[in-house]
Order: sequence, then structure tokens, then C-alpha cells
Amino acid sequence: MPVQNAMTADFLRSAYGGESMAHMRYLIWGDVAEKEGMPNIARLFRAIAYAEWAHADNHFRELRDQKGDYTVPAGAVFGIGKTAENLQGAIDGELHEVEQMYPVYLETARFQNEKGAERAFHFALEAEKIHVDLFQKAQDAAMEKKDFEVGPIHICPVCGYTGTDPAPDVCPVCGVKKEMFKIFE
Ligand code: FE2
Ligand code: FE2
Ligand code: FE2
Repeated sequence: MPVQNAMTADFLRSAYGGESMAHMRYLIWGDVAEKEGMPNIARLFRAIAYAEWAHADNHFRELRDQKGDYTVPAGAVFGIGKTAENLQGAIDGELHEVEQMYPVYLETARFQNEKGAERAFHFALEAEKIHVDLFQKAQDAAMEKKDFEVGPIHICPVCGYTGTDPAPDVCPVCGVKKEMFKIFE
């Protein structure tokens, strides 16, 4: 059942806005990394941009009955710098989601017995934890003017789970088979 309660609906709209902007921002920062000669970091940004699309898609679908125009306040990081700086922006945004935004949104959805929103927020929260870690490792490399040593990156199109080789047989967050994963290599 799509979302019924106003507070959870507000949080879904805000999360949709935040994920949409993160998706676009990572594509832009990916192009910067490519131009700086860091193709693996560019690929990481593009893979994670796809995961953020999956999150936005889940949130939007939960709002399917809430038709009409809205002004949507959402957190977003701005600025274009060198890749190491852009990665700091990415880390800051992901940490905000992991430490503040999604835990609060998730508990609200639970409190309001909004099962679909709870699922969408849970999926996003689990993926963002991995994003923090991967962006931190990429930044460690970029600080030393090196590219990030990483193999194929697997993204679950259902929940945005983000993994590196070897891919698990089923998504550890949502359970879909690994054949569904989109691979960035
Ligand atoms: Fe996300
Ligand atoms: Fe993320
Ligand atoms: Fe998944």
C-alpha cells in the first residue's frame, strides 16, 4: 500500500529530492574525476549514482498516490573542486544520510506503520553505509594523487546495494539474485 501519513510522505518527498540531486551530482563529479585521469573513481561515482537512482525510484513509487505539485526541501551538497574535495562532499552527504536523515525517516515510517516507506528507507540506509566506506577509500587514494584500486562494482537495482568483487549470490539487503545486479567495470 502506498504511503498514507503526511509526515512519512513529507520524508519520502525530501528523500526523493536528496537522492535525485545526489544522482546528478555524482555524475558531474564522475566527469571531473575522468578528466583528472582517475577512471576508477569516475566509475565509482557513476556506479553510486545508479544506486541513488534506485533509492529515488523506490521513494517516488511509494508516493504514487500523492499526485500534484510540491515544493520539496532536501539536503544537497554543492560545489565543484578537485576530486579529493568532491569526495569529501560525497562523504559528508552520505554521513548525513547514515547518521541523521535515514534513521529518523525509518523510525517515523515504523511509528506510522508505513511498510512500503520503511522498506524504501531501510534499503537506502544500508546502501549509504557502504557508500561512506567506498568514498573514504577512494579519497585516501585521491589524496595521494592516485586512482582508487577497485574491480567491478555491483549495484542492486532493487535496493541500491553496492558491492565489489566477489558479488554475493543474492543481494544481502533485499535478496534478489546477483544476475540482476548492474555491473560497472
Ligand atoms: Fe541513496
Ligand atoms: Fe549514497
Ligand atoms: Fe538488493
